[in-house]
Amino acid sequence: MLRLFKHMTRQHVFYMLWLTVFIVGQVVLELTVPDYMSDITKLINTPGSTTAEIWNLGKMMILLSMLAFACSLISKYFSARLAASFSQHLRRKIFNCVENFSLEEIDRFSTASLITRSTNDCSQIQNIMSRALNQIIRVPIMAGYALFKIATRYWQWLAFTAASLSILFALLIFLVIYAHPRFRKMQSYTDNLNQVTRENMTGMRVVRAYNAEEYEEAKFAKANTELTENALKARRAMGLLQPATKFVNNELNIGIYCIGAYLISAAEKAEQLEIFSEMVVFSTYAARIVRAFMGMNMIFNMIPRATVSAERINAILDTKLSIKDGNKTEAMTSGTMEFRNVSFTYPGANVPALSDVSFTAEKGQTVAFIGATGSGKSTLVNLMMRFFDASSGEIIVDDVNIKDFTQKSLRQKMGYASQQAVLFTGTVRSNIAYAVKDIEEKVRKAVRIAQAEEFVSKMRDDIDSPISRGGTNVSGGQKQRLSVARAVYREPEFYIFDDTFSALDYKTDRTLRAALQKETAGITTFIVAQRIGTIKDADKIIVLDEGKVIGEGTHDELMKSCEIYREIARTQLSLEDMA
Ligand SMILES: Nc1ncnc2c1ncn2[C@@H]1O[C@H](COP(=O)(O)OP(=O)(O)OP(=O)(O)O)[C@@H](O)[C@H]1O
Ligand SMILES: [Mg+2]
Repeated sequence: MLRLFKHMTRQHVFYMLWLTVFIVGQVVLELTVPDYMSDITKLINTPGSTTAEIWNLGKMMILLSMLAFACSLISKYFSARLAASFSQHLRRKIFNCVENFSLEEIDRFSTASLITRSTNDCSQIQNIMSRALNQIIRVPIMAGYALFKIATRYWQWLAFTAASLSILFALLIFLVIYAHPRFRKMQSYTDNLNQVTRENMTGMRVVRAYNAEEYEEAKFAKANTELTENALKARRAMGLLQPATKFVNNELNIGIYCIGAYLISAAEKAEQLEIFSEMVVFSTYAARIVRAFMGMNMIFNMIPRATVSAERINAILDTKLSIKDGNKTEAMTSGTMEFRNVSFTYPGANVPALSDVSFTAEKGQTVAFIGATGSGKSTLVNLMMRFFDASSGEIIVDDVNIKDFTQKSLRQKMGYASQQAVLFTGTVRSNIAYAVKDIEEKVRKAVRIAQAEEFVSKMRDDIDSPISRGGTNVSGGQKQRLSVARAVYREPEFYIFDDTFSALDYKTDRTLRAALQKETAGITTFIVAQRIGTIKDADKIIVLDEGKVIGEGTHDELMKSCEIYREIARTQLSLEDMA
């Protein structure tokens, strides 16, 4: 958890310092009070002392207590400030970190876990900081200072107190160590629960369609029970803590008085009063120390969980990005792309998804990729976008290795439409002019080119019509057309359409491509497609099979030279089309 604190900013350190100052103030004031008590005890037992004298000491005690109270309030304020601002800072850092993750890192952590880490785990840290930081700083200072103050008194008491506290402390450490792995499991069960819930919600239609409610409920119940049982185990262990502290408290009191009784009976008559008043003070101190530990109960309950949370947050913040940013920021240039012997294996996979892929695309050309499902087409365009880095070989864009560009400027060149069209909550307009300034004319033009005008104009508010989460209020083909419009709006140097036309009927497919060609001439275009019809006119068609290029050329050339291409064509085109 300490490692997490290195992410503190100046301001947090500043809060922390003030917090410590006020806590020290509070402890010193609180521990001065028993000294007055000792004096009062002596006065009461001294014949001839006046009420006024006692009253003066009493007034001092009240004043000190009030000051201690004020210090405590101020320190609470600082700890609350610190906790809230630090956890906000952490969440922001995590979010920024995850934004820079490549798909590889996202896969490694899993989305569900990334969400729990940035919400639940951050709350754990905030919780412990706001509720416990005070105590965590206070208790050692309190215990240390109290022990220092009583160190000068009788060694018998001191030894006894030290022994009792050591036992208590050992128990605490043992419990924390015992509970730690259980709390770690608990967080991963929370991830799991989150995952099951998410899957159930997002896959609702399939769950309903297959009458799988009970099946999903069972999965949920299992995850839920796992979490509960583990939580019980961890909490049961921590439950020992409170009775143990109570026990030590009582044992300590009895011990101190027993030792006191012994010391008093062994002492001279003149010294007895002195020892008695010492005993009152001593037991007050001891009680304070134990009470401080008792106040720590809740915190010791929180520490194991918070440490796990801190580890999980650190894991994100310390992740070395597998994709390193370059520093070139060239805006548009030649519009060429070249793959040189590119191979790629997914992390954890044992066969390469792409092997030794080479081709070039000249400015303004349309290059198409076709091949069976799983042949590596999406993988190939993912490499162009640098969602992953090639395992070997080079990808050259505008005569520069894509690793040398900043990711931002590389992606700025690309108008990308993913295989599964993604829409965000908002409007048609905000989805097309995504994350950039929207210019109505340009939005309308993009809508027109993407053949989306006809259905957008029928929507209630035209381009300002709402799009619900995940684009559930438009059809699959409409979603794809909007994602093409988003790519067009960007006015990129390259288009990358990953199977974007597959959900369109033949006619729309054809008009869309014609419009693209007419309105966006000069832009290098990559099209992944299943249908030969979609790519027949491409300048270059690359046929992929199990990650290898097995044919390259125009439609006519491939019909002559590539058996697999001919096979695909035969199953799709009528004889007339083929001719
Ligand atoms: N994230 C991933 N982790 C591991 N393996 C993957 C991952 N994504 C894809 N693969 C594997 O890589 C291979 C190529 O997948 P890819 O998505 O590129 O195929 P595709 O040609 O686009 O198929 P489709 O036409 O179905 O979209 C497949 O064997 C697939 O199982
Ligand atoms: Mg694909």
